[in-house]
Amino acid sequence: MVRRTMKTKKPIILSGIQPTGNLHIGNYLGAIKHWVDLQNSNKYNCYFVIVDYHALTGNQTAAERHANSMNVATELLAAGIDPKKSTLFVQSAVPECTELAWIFNTITPVSELNRMTQFKDKSEHQEKNINAGLLTYPILQAADILLYHGNFVPVGQDQVQHVELTRDIARWFNNRYSSTHPGYFPETKVLLTEIPKVMSLLEPTKKMSKSHGLNTVIELRDEPEEIAQKLKKAITASAGGGEAPGVSNLLTLLKHFGSKQDFSAFLKAEKDGSIRYGDLKNAVGMAITHHFADFRKRRVELMKKQSQVKKIIAEGANHARSTAQKTMKEVRALVGIA
Ligand code: TRP
Repeated sequence: MVRRTMKTKKPIILSGIQPTGNLHIGNYLGAIKHWVDLQNSNKYNCYFVIVDYHALTGNQTAAERHANSMNVATELLAAGIDPKKSTLFVQSAVPECTELAWIFNTITPVSELNRMTQFKDKSEHQEKNINAGLLTYPILQAADILLYHGNFVPVGQDQVQHVELTRDIARWFNNRYSSTHPGYFPETKVLLTEIPKVMSLLEPTKKMSKSHGLNTVIELRDEPEEIAQKLKKAITASAGGGEAPGVSNLLTLLKHFGSKQDFSAFLKAEKDGSIRYGDLKNAVGMAITHHFADFRKRRVELMKKQSQVKKIIAEGANHARSTAQKTMKEVRALVGIA
């Protein structure tokens, strides 16, 4: 029997992050900052998932994977995810998502998966490990979202295609299995927020990513000296005489982390040619150092209380799991299995 009673009228937000190491300022401006803002708006019922099943498609070792999930949980809490307001959990603690993913596997055409740009990119990146999980990765993502009947998914541009596929999967499922309960799965929408492109410090034409080396990213946990050192080496030269991508990147960072006055002063100096890149780097370094001072403090405290972090994600998983089990009971009935 499928009955869906909405205890809360608030739309459901769900987003996920892979546990691949320490959070950096690209992750922060691209996702975490928005998650915290959405959570604090009190307009939504938020679920945030650390997607360790998805991370299995990559090349980490088991030990790395275990440490990374705890680390990301700790850093998300330090960055402002509040377990009193949001449900924070590790994906594998709610294995129902793999069951739903299996069912979605059987209604998703392979041709749709083959066109996913992230699949093509990742296959190029790890050509020795093009496992089937890389191909079906967006189906598991759809299961993450639809298990909780997610209405909105705050993600960056690179995930839009996956959320569109989630919407297709919801439609295919509804058409095939849910004629008696039309619209059983919602048509999930992307919540696109303005997301600045944060580039690598050393190769500013590439997106900031740990895969290009630790000196190319600023991590949220970096101490002020490390931030200053990394920025000192940041590339500001332009290859062809046009606008230097490294300088634009530093200005972007100043825009998001610094004061309005600082930003407009440096922008003006860049335009009239009086800019000194050393000064710009100092300003950016100070702004980032200041912005994450509370984060660094909270992170150190939470590192001493890992059992508390474990408890928080266990409670998050319990809450998520009760919803997930209810969904799976309904889905099993709809598709006609046990
Ligand atoms: N695929 C996302 C990424 O690579 C992570 C993810 C997994 C996700 N499940 C999700 C994002 C559900 C949003 C919703 O960043």
